[in-house]
Amino acid sequence: MNDRTEQHTERLDAHVFVCTNDREGEHASCGAVGADETAAAVKAWLRERDAFWTAVSVSETSCLGLCSEDGTAITIQPRNRWYSDVSPEDVPTLLESVFGPDAERVGEA
Ligand code: FES
Repeated sequence: MNDRTEQHTERLDAHVFVCTNDREGEHASCGAVGADETAAAVKAWLRERDAFWTAVSVSETSCLGLCSEDGTAITIQPRNRWYSDVSPEDVPTLLESVFGPDAERVGEA
């Protein structure tokens, strides 16, 4: 085992987890309501501000327990922010509220 906590936290400000789980069944799941497009919008927003993977990681994940028929679930850690019903159009407002319009608050947490 290699404990890389210190090394990783020196580089990383936050990790955005976007649920892309698709149950392909009768129950609501993010993957059935545009999660791939929402994840792409998150990555694009960060990339446009030079924050993608340099300081903010993005991972597509399975169920976050916030399933909805109206959009995607997202959590931003370690800031302890949790969202549901996120559409691609919501992404700029969401990320601006956490990181600032130009991602100027990246590194402040
Ligand atoms: S399927 Fe996305 S939060 Fe449950």
